[in-house]
Amino acid sequence: MAEKRSVTEAAVRGRRVLVRVDFNVPQRPDGSVADDRRIVEALPTLKHLEAAGAKTVLLSHLGRPNGKRDMAYSLRPVAHRLSALLGRPVPIADDLVGIHAIEGVTRLSNGGFLMLENLRFHPGEEANDPTFAAELARLGDLFVEEAFGTVHRAHASTVGVPKRLPSCAGLLVQKEIRALTPLLGQTERPYVALMGGAKVSDKLPLLASFLGRVDTLLIGGALAFPFLAADGADLGATTVEGGLAPVVAEFREAARAAGTAIGLPTDLVFERTAGAVGEVAPASRIPAGARAFDIGPATRQRFLDVLQSSRTVFWNGPLGLAEDPRFSEGTREVLAGLADVPGFHVAAGGDSARVVETLGVRGSFQYLSTGGGAALEFVQGAELPGLAVLPDA
Ligand code: 3PG
Repeated sequence: MAEKRSVTEAAVRGRRVLVRVDFNVPQRPDGSVADDRRIVEALPTLKHLEAAGAKTVLLSHLGRPNGKRDMAYSLRPVAHRLSALLGRPVPIADDLVGIHAIEGVTRLSNGGFLMLENLRFHPGEEANDPTFAAELARLGDLFVEEAFGTVHRAHASTVGVPKRLPSCAGLLVQKEIRALTPLLGQTERPYVALMGGAKVSDKLPLLASFLGRVDTLLIGGALAFPFLAADGADLGATTVEGGLAPVVAEFREAARAAGTAIGLPTDLVFERTAGAVGEVAPASRIPAGARAFDIGPATRQRFLDVLQSSRTVFWNGPLGLAEDPRFSEGTREVLAGLADVPGFHVAAGGDSARVVETLGVRGSFQYLSTGGGAALEFVQGAELPGLAVLPDA
């Protein structure tokens, strides 16, 4: 993909620079930041702007508060973490386009930072409402896209604002484009996509674009359950996203036509009651009342056999409930096994990177992307609205 105009070429001294970041980070129950990788990855751009004397206004979303102000999704803990990383205070405006934001921007000095509250507190963000985009754009003189994880969304902050201001790409966005572009062309085969995680109805349609592009699609995590349910598996009390049978049937048909093999779990690790020790059963026969949370040992071995002969691997989403040690072994074993497989391995997703670190399998990957859905769409060759809107270099 073509290089985008870089933030390093923009004249920013004394100018108000709106920077869209993806600080949608995992949080602990008390709200504090559980994994700051997405913040750390934006630091080179932020430090560049600081040194160059810009007045930086940070825009981000956190979670999905659906257009309503809900302080459970406040960016305050994120601003707190960023302040620590930058070694200077990053004040947060209590609103987005109201009096607090306007006053905060006016008070900014050269090299200073202001963060606005969660973009998704405003219904205009996800609707890409033109009035909201224009109000946001009025807070800045230029726009920097640094939220690689969100460039697949056509929202006010990712499309509406850059349409109204001179725009460029931040250093992280440039790095992501360079690292992932090799997966767009002739990849070394066999190419295997290893997919898991929980955003099932989000991901299923995205997986379809992998068909024909990869040789094998290995599916674990909650993503596998609708497939197993469609095969008539008895999954006990496992949470299975409903209403997906027609999508699954269509998906399988498309996979057959495209010549992409699909690998699903044949055994699962389950708990009989909440907190009980993990037990293994065939994926078709989870006991009544029990809930499955991980792929079983036979599935791990089968997945590893497929990966063993691969030359390119794209991984997104844990294959089980990786934050619980009873259900993290499936993900750990499969990812650890990748370390001995030669080739180009990419891990994608805000959560995936954290899983890589906690499970100690960093050595299995040549590149960790901060994008989840965005990286998925990028490597499938989709046009991403937040990138398409930026001028080429
Ligand atoms: C992500 O975590 O994938 C990005 O921050 C986008 O979040 P979204 O899926 O809620 O749009």
